[in-house]
Amino acid sequence: MLNDLHSIKKSVQEEAEKAESLQDIQNLKIRYLGKKGLLTGKIKTLSSIPKEQRPEYGRSLNEIKNFTEELLDSKEKAFKASELDTSLQTQQIDVTVPGCYTPSGRLHPVTQVLNEIIGIFVSLGFSVEEGPEIELDYYNFEALNFPKDHPARDMQDTFFISDDVVLRTHTSSVQVRVMEKNSPPLRVIAPGKVYRCDADVSHIPMFHQLEGFMVDRHIRMSDLKGMLELFIHRVFGPETSLRFRPSFFPFTEPSAEIDISCVMCKGAGCNVCSGTGWIEILGAGMINPRVYESAGYDPDVYTGFAFGLGIERVAMLKYEINDIRLFPENDKRFLEQF
Ligand code: PHE
Repeated sequence: MLNDLHSIKKSVQEEAEKAESLQDIQNLKIRYLGKKGLLTGKIKTLSSIPKEQRPEYGRSLNEIKNFTEELLDSKEKAFKASELDTSLQTQQIDVTVPGCYTPSGRLHPVTQVLNEIIGIFVSLGFSVEEGPEIELDYYNFEALNFPKDHPARDMQDTFFISDDVVLRTHTSSVQVRVMEKNSPPLRVIAPGKVYRCDADVSHIPMFHQLEGFMVDRHIRMSDLKGMLELFIHRVFGPETSLRFRPSFFPFTEPSAEIDISCVMCKGAGCNVCSGTGWIEILGAGMINPRVYESAGYDPDVYTGFAFGLGIERVAMLKYEINDIRLFPENDKRFLEQF
């Protein structure tokens, strides 16, 4: 009977030696130590052993059971450790492998400049309004004191859709639309696309403008000056000077074109400012009483100013871009620089 136990011990040793995986060891555990295992079976039959042999047999059985447990546990541990090792090796991440480049988009330089400018005026209490790009001749021209066949319409090379409908040539078209729906005081900016049949280094047929206007009692030219100076200083820096030149627009009286000291040469004269030291940047003026009549405001009560700014123009000066046609081309090599 003791021989029986010894041969079990021997086969445990042999089989444990041959085991090739954690699974093999776990199977052995079941075979020898499980509920129906060989050693468990022997323990169950202990009572059938003759009384005088029982102590020695019991001791041996216990010893072999402990031996088996220890042997299989240590084998199990060894297999687990080596499995971890191989999985660490095979699943290793090589941090030196070059990554996959995910190109990221960004805002177009015109959008960036527009957002910056809108931010400045919103911080000054202006609200943002929009009007249609396909516009009635009425809002683009007539309500702004450009009568039909008036020569001033020649200033803007208009795309006509029909006799009464145009692609808006300026954001001034939003003025009367807003005035019709609101009563003073008004402090409004109207950014957006405008269209003119014109194309060269400094003109493209679709570009962006930002209209600004303020209407209330007692608004004066000095308010326009102060507002524009503050705005220009925020965009181009406080050392920039402004110059108002008399000009003409049918919807403002008096009218002015506003130049800033050249941002490149600081006024000394260079090829950007054609040697003059000044760059034209805005059209502006005091809103013509005729416009209030179109809107149904009393021109004896209300006064106000308006200005119109070319966004591409500002972006060109800010980023030192010398050809306006680069903006709508959408060449990534150009766009990626902003
Ligand atoms: N709408 C004019 C233009 O496009 C600019 C302007 C706006 C002038 C407002 C005066 C007042 O040239």
